[in-house]
Amino acid sequence: MRNLTSKELRSLYLQFFKGKGHVIVDNASLIPENDPTVLFTTAGMHPLVPYLLGERHPAGKRLVNVQKCVRTGDIDEVGDTSHCTFFEMLGNWSLGDYFKKEAIAYSFEFLTDEKWLGIPKEKLYFTCFEGDADAPRDTVSHDRWVDMGVEESHIFYLPKKYNWWGPAGQTGPCGPDTEMFYDTGKLACTDTCSPACSCGKYLEIWNNVFMEFNKKEDGAFEPLAQKNVDTGMGLDRTVATLQGVQSVYDTDAFTGILATIARLSGKQYGKSEEITKAFRIIADHIRCGVFMIGDPRGIVPGNVDQGYILRRLLRRALRFAMQLTIEQGGLGHVAQAVITQYKDNYTELINKQDYIIDEINKEEQRFTKTLKKGIKEFERLLPTLTDKRIDGKNVFRLYDTFGFPLEFTIELAREHGFHVDEQGYHEAFADHQKKSQMGAEHRFKGGMADNAENTTKLHTATHLLQAALRDVLRDKNIAQRGSNITAERLRFDFSFPRKLTKEELDAVEFMVNEIIQADLPVTYEEMTVEKAKKMGAIGLFESKYAEIVKVYSMGDFSREICGGPHAGSTGELGRFKIKKEEASSAGVRRIKAVLQCDPSLLI
Ligand code: SER
Repeated sequence: MRNLTSKELRSLYLQFFKGKGHVIVDNASLIPENDPTVLFTTAGMHPLVPYLLGERHPAGKRLVNVQKCVRTGDIDEVGDTSHCTFFEMLGNWSLGDYFKKEAIAYSFEFLTDEKWLGIPKEKLYFTCFEGDADAPRDTVSHDRWVDMGVEESHIFYLPKKYNWWGPAGQTGPCGPDTEMFYDTGKLACTDTCSPACSCGKYLEIWNNVFMEFNKKEDGAFEPLAQKNVDTGMGLDRTVATLQGVQSVYDTDAFTGILATIARLSGKQYGKSEEITKAFRIIADHIRCGVFMIGDPRGIVPGNVDQGYILRRLLRRALRFAMQLTIEQGGLGHVAQAVITQYKDNYTELINKQDYIIDEINKEEQRFTKTLKKGIKEFERLLPTLTDKRIDGKNVFRLYDTFGFPLEFTIELAREHGFHVDEQGYHEAFADHQKKSQMGAEHRFKGGMADNAENTTKLHTATHLLQAALRDVLRDKNIAQRGSNITAERLRFDFSFPRKLTKEELDAVEFMVNEIIQADLPVTYEEMTVEKAKKMGAIGLFESKYAEIVKVYSMGDFSREICGGPHAGSTGELGRFKIKKEEASSAGVRRIKAVLQCDPSLLI
């Protein structure tokens, strides 16, 4: 088995699939472009949903990429051996081209051939979908692994819970998968131990999803016209396997980052469980924060949506930095170490490095103030308590409002001779989680596939809005800083230094409605990035790989690089109405707008 660094694995993977006729495509933003159902890109398939549903991808039918992803559902698990909030997913894609046979042959070759990873096949285990009322048993995948020379005893059939992937939201592309596991050599926990077991014997390293269904709103699985392959290999996790280390944090990707934390804190990673956990949390959260702030759609700490998650991550990192007695300003140095590790593969980080570090430092200053307020609140609270006990609700409030973790409150309480109702705290916490889960479920309603028509129209309206803003404000440098579309409204963030006047907003609205009334055709053309630039198309020209892009035109009014989909003509949009204009962050304005569907309103 080859011992590869993260950078080596990343480039070998791209090289392997390039050799199999795949085009290397760019990383998409961490914020899904036109999918309101989730806050972050959580899997490599996310930015490709329109293409999995049949939209033509300009780079063709065979793609390969490394997609940065964020999953914060398990934030409290970060610090153990495998959980990270940020990760990179290696993926190869067939958009209606090859299917199970080729995908499995590619995976097997990449994993086992000496020229690539060289993992002995005896160390690998495989799972296939066992079949149910929605889809048949996947004997094709099973038989293909056998063709490759895999022993029957290394293949397991498992139910949907384990061998089915997607949709990413409530509806959308999904299908059975076949997963590849590395045997860590640990003894099987029981006679029935299998890759479904989490005892640590089997480590999942790769997943091939055979996306052949579209899950509908009514729960039915409709066969997709185009059968796709979506694969995902966790970069850190596979590197940990190849390097023979126990944890993703012990791979080369984290060496420089952990060394910086050691230098700043004067403490030694691995010295105690508590110290190890603090190091890992700081490393993970700052890595994730750096990628969020450095993202082309830039996220800044805030109180809602992505900004809130970023704030939580940074503040949690700060608390652990305090625990390690890292002085104020230290996290900026950790961020610098992250940038150094990733700059070659993510040029946006180097371009924005001062800005990223500045945002982290500013959040640190804000948090220090809040912390002081929290301590005051804590001191105010104590004399009101009669039985030397802080009840669960108050402990939770200190956590929720001032970011005091339970351990921190227990420590403070102890210093004052109080004890803490931990049970009550956990109950209050669970209650809160239930409520926010309900919120999250609500957010998942209205996936990419449902409400698609309205979302598509709002997407087209977003292009018109950007073109109109550039025109009315006479500023060709206005650039998109974020876009979020739900079935009900669009939200567009753009660079501009001041508040827009009422007259300007009216003029923008008027102009967009003029274009809608003109019923301009919406067309696209595929061309090189160079040509798109020459034509004056709007877009983030950060492409490293994809040479051919789609440029959508709405007559001569708007020309923008975009994957689509869009309305057929501007006349389909209805009436455009700006609902709100406000600051989003320094130098960035935010417009919320809707489309009113009644065509009679157009007069
Ligand atoms: N979508 C699948 C996953 O995230 C494979 O890429 O695991």
